[in-house]
Amino acid sequence: MPKDYFEKLSDHKSPPTYKFFNGEKWVNSVSDKTIDVISPLDDHVVGKIQSVTHAEIDQAVSLAKVAQKEWMKVPMIKRTQILHLAADWIREHEHYLTTLLIKEIGKTHTEAKDEILRSADMTDYFAHEGLHLTGEELSGEAFPGYDQTKIAIVERVPLGVVLAIAPFNYPVNLSVSKIAPALITGNAVVFKPPTQGAICSLLLTEIFRIAGVPDGVIVTITGSGNDVGDYLTTHPGIDMVTFTGSSQVGKSIAEKIGMIPILFECGGNNPALVLPDADFDNTAMEIVKGAFSYSGQRCTAVKYVLGLTPTIEKLLPLVVKKTKEMIKMGDPRVGENNLGPVISDGAANEIEKRIILAKAAGAKIVLGGKKDGRFIEPTILDHVTLAMDIIHTETFGPVVGFIRVKSIDDAIELINQSSYGLQASIFTKDEGAGIKLGQLIDVGTVQINSKPQRGPDNFPFLGIKGSGTGVQGIRYTLEAMTRFKPIVLNKPQ
Ligand code: G3H
Repeated sequence: MPKDYFEKLSDHKSPPTYKFFNGEKWVNSVSDKTIDVISPLDDHVVGKIQSVTHAEIDQAVSLAKVAQKEWMKVPMIKRTQILHLAADWIREHEHYLTTLLIKEIGKTHTEAKDEILRSADMTDYFAHEGLHLTGEELSGEAFPGYDQTKIAIVERVPLGVVLAIAPFNYPVNLSVSKIAPALITGNAVVFKPPTQGAICSLLLTEIFRIAGVPDGVIVTITGSGNDVGDYLTTHPGIDMVTFTGSSQVGKSIAEKIGMIPILFECGGNNPALVLPDADFDNTAMEIVKGAFSYSGQRCTAVKYVLGLTPTIEKLLPLVVKKTKEMIKMGDPRVGENNLGPVISDGAANEIEKRIILAKAAGAKIVLGGKKDGRFIEPTILDHVTLAMDIIHTETFGPVVGFIRVKSIDDAIELINQSSYGLQASIFTKDEGAGIKLGQLIDVGTVQINSKPQRGPDNFPFLGIKGSGTGVQGIRYTLEAMTRFKPIVLNKPQ
């Protein structure tokens, strides 16, 4: 049952219709239109969310614009206290949020709970690190031709109104990773949650509110990406856009957006390069976890494995064995099931199509390959090539392909041909060799002897090429959400 303070968010009918937060109040949209949030688990409507109008967006953004000017004057220590309180409230409501998250997006209990607790920890860390964000003081004497008469006081100031667009696969955590840093640095937030995950996001908004975020400093706009998302990204009142989602959507936003700062985490198509001397047991386990957790719907999932033929021949049976041991497909609310459905019928159909196409083009299905509704079996393909859609374009599902290379140099060349550049893993017992190879791979981050992953969240997290732009990670996100403002003192000679 929701706690009393969540009561005002919906009409409590079955299914409940949720309001949106216009910066001051929880209200129904004048559009009189709602969107169903359908559970991928059993098709039931978890709730209905508002389809907010453009006029309501204009009003909310104007409110945020005004509120931000006051919010940036609130002392950092006070903003920090509000964020710590929000973190406590997230923890307090972990069970409720976890249950809802499972229904909305079909995560396992462990995955959903981890997401919520990680969000609380992240909020605390942003608050803590906010206290250490500093500007600097520079003297003109350092540059030829100037003298000591110039001193720059370089402050870090907020950007204004930050538009935060979060994806369905981490609707709480990848919202917090945008909202918390924006707030602590004195920005206002216009929050556009994903449709699946929107209900958790609305609760999250209220959590920040009850923790003390003033009116107008956060507004939450629900609606379809095509309508509301497009309108928001080109809205003149928005001063920065932070987005997590597919490369395709990221590129299309970036093309339209104009000259404002952006921080984009887009798709990944992450390779694992296995050297002959790797610890094969650990490698196989990491590949299984990397490929199949949350049904492969993570931008950091392992999508293909490269190695010399003897390496693949030794590794592949191990990966198959471990997949059978570790992965149980089925409703994640039941027993030990840990591979649930993918998010929608459309997604499942697309994944199935790509598997069929890969097979027709010469790939061999070593395990799985079948679809049952939105459930896709954990699928392992051998003899894939980068030309196949299953590997060429990010496939957001539980599928991993194996590629046999003639040499490690060839493997690096293949990886670097990809239009993605989020992460890559290298498995070897020779860490020095791993580092040297890592330096040759064109991706944001290289992991030695682990699956790709975003965390720990204080590490820099970034994609290059089609995988994004800008750097996230606690301190880096805070820096990205502020700009330098030098005030130059010109002393008389
Ligand atoms: O889906 C994109 C996320 O940033 C991946 O995060 O590596 O913690 O699962 P994760």
